[in-house]
Amino acid sequence: MAIDFSGKTAIISGAAGGIGFALSKELASQGMNILMADIDEATLNASVESLIADGLSAKAARLDVTDYAQWESVVAQAKEAFGAVHMVVNNAGVGGIPGKIEETNHDTFRWVVDVNMMGVLFGTQAATPAIKEAGGGWIINVASMAGMGGVPYSVAYSATKAAVVSMTESWAQELKKDNIWVSALCPAFVKTRIHESLRTMQPKYKSEKPLGNPETLKKGFGAAAALVESGISSELLAQRVIEALNNKQTYIFTHPNYRDSVQMRAQFLDKAFEDAENSPLVAHLKDDEIVSL
Ligand SMILES: NC(=O)c1ccc[n+]([C@@H]2O[C@H](COP(=O)([O-])OP(=O)(O)OC[C@H]3O[C@@H](n4cnc5c(N)ncnc54)[C@H](O)[C@@H]3O)[C@@H](O)[C@H]2O)c1
Repeated sequence: MAIDFSGKTAIISGAAGGIGFALSKELASQGMNILMADIDEATLNASVESLIADGLSAKAARLDVTDYAQWESVVAQAKEAFGAVHMVVNNAGVGGIPGKIEETNHDTFRWVVDVNMMGVLFGTQAATPAIKEAGGGWIINVASMAGMGGVPYSVAYSATKAAVVSMTESWAQELKKDNIWVSALCPAFVKTRIHESLRTMQPKYKSEKPLGNPETLKKGFGAAAALVESGISSELLAQRVIEALNNKQTYIFTHPNYRDSVQMRAQFLDKAFEDAENSPLVAHLKDDEIVSL
């Protein structure tokens, strides 16, 4: 039976545009109240107004996901406006800067870690007590296919997305007893402005050092723009999320055409176990019981 979302409340980060906006609209159309949060206040306000003009229930809150105090305030604002919180969608994310290891800028790497990884921790930590209070609900972490294996020249992005998948797996086990369903949304390319993420970089991450090699940057950003442009629509993705929640899916995949590449990684990992089984040094551990705490 389809989940009845009506009258429930979701907080969605990065809701001003792209995937966050599409999810806000889809979930609001299912009858939810949406606390739409974003660092880009002007775009956010226009987006919230467009939902309200469509007769949907939405409210705006300025949020930089790298600031825990702001997350606490957003959760309080959602409770105040709508009475309770049943869902958080940790969607805000940035694409990072393409580059080789020698060119990697520490300040911009930290920006990607803070937004894509710490932002997800902060959102989950701030919202979980409220979702527990409401008797349960959902935490949806927006990861990426890039979290299913390291992507060359896009290290901060793929590393943080792998972390989001891992955090989701940990919390899914921890919070099941509290009736909280935790999912990782792992799309491949979606038509949004992710390749223009530098537009929202906070001053605290602006570097005195070059962002990278101009040639590599030009090539990398150009390739990213073309890939994003080839992607699916964020509206289709939002419908797929509802379908996956109705079917209690922990990993929400949107691009079945990536199956072979993920399976290839699984095969490499399986081969690594085979290599260990064949190693005279560690083969004797094969049938040892796994100690669990
Ligand atoms: N577009 C894709 O191809 C794709 C693929 C896989 C995963 N994703 C993920 O989807 C999520 C949404 O990205 P999108 O594609 O819609 O990109 P987008 O750039 O169109 O939207 C991102 C939104 O996040 C907001 N944001 C950025 N930094 C923020 C911060 N510090 N605090 C609060 N809000 C902030 C931006 O203002 C923007 O509204 C990201 O986590 C991204 O990594 C995107």
